[in-house]
Amino acid sequence: MSISNNQIIDRLGSCNTLSWKAPSNIALIKYWGKKDFQIPANSSISMTLNNCYTNCIMEFIASDNFSVSLEFENKSDDSFLKKVTKHISRIAKDFPVLKSFSYTFKTSNTFPHSAGIASSASSMAAINLCLTELLVKLDEVPNEDFFRFASDHARQGSGSASRSLYGGFVDWGATSNDYGSVQDNIHEDFIDMGDAVLIVDSGVKEVSSSKGHQLMMSHPQREERFSAANAKTKKMIEILKDGDWNSFIPLLESEALELHGLMMSGTPWFILMKPETLALLDLFKKWRNENSVRAAFTLDAGPNIHLLYHKDERDRVLAFINEQAISHLENEQWIDDKMGMGPEKVIIQ
Ligand code: PMV
Repeated sequence: MSISNNQIIDRLGSCNTLSWKAPSNIALIKYWGKKDFQIPANSSISMTLNNCYTNCIMEFIASDNFSVSLEFENKSDDSFLKKVTKHISRIAKDFPVLKSFSYTFKTSNTFPHSAGIASSASSMAAINLCLTELLVKLDEVPNEDFFRFASDHARQGSGSASRSLYGGFVDWGATSNDYGSVQDNIHEDFIDMGDAVLIVDSGVKEVSSSKGHQLMMSHPQREERFSAANAKTKKMIEILKDGDWNSFIPLLESEALELHGLMMSGTPWFILMKPETLALLDLFKKWRNENSVRAAFTLDAGPNIHLLYHKDERDRVLAFINEQAISHLENEQWIDDKMGMGPEKVIIQ
């Protein structure tokens, strides 16, 4: 049942702006392949980041004419605007009141635009936190289910965004296919894990994640992959709870290479790693094994490398980056990040 303009005014009072910041995340076991509408073909688990996040300010005014305008880093962005407008129209099928407003979004990322880091997870999470808070204020969503709804809505915009609604380690598909769930009781040896993101190439990827998910659904090994990934997610959760770095390293690394192996063995095949990615992985493996460092790499759907490391290994990892890795990086760029605590509401003065 839709609510009247008077009810909207009553419920919102003078509130006309909401703002959230939401983090990006790095998948340890990857979501790759989807069915129906944004339902993952397998479960996944990620670590929420701390320094890579999107800030979103949403201004809104009750209006008979639904409209959206958007600025990304103070500039208009037509393709993002189209995506957000379509997204709100989709969520409005369940919550028609969302069409009773004119919106202005202002978003910005803390990580460089050209770092080759996907921003869809953090931006969809931040935008949907604002929209879901509006729904709570309008009594359309119960406050106690706020993050669950925000995650379900974010998922519909970008699958991996469903995991950016919580801090620490978050699964999607192990607990629910519709929203992410935080994993509790993680061993202290994985808490505050570091993530050094080595930028090898910041260019636009040859094949987008959406296309990659689609190609995975016709991959000859899809069924084996989906059941193996479900088992790996369970195993990864056990490892994180047990604090078992000896098992973490091979599982994390073989999963990253499996993701890229699936890209290379599909039809049509594609390769997202670059020669420098391989050179760095070789250097890293040799250094890590010779020095017994609690550090492991993973890759997203792109050429850049995430080095995840135990918080006590920071000095050794920084020495590896500065002495060995730096000359292989694009403009010597890397992002110094770590496990984060999840989204934060921003109070607008
Ligand atoms: O959320 P999407 O559609 O951009 O897909 C993300 C896919 C991977 O980043 C490769 C893996 C993941 O689980 O985040």
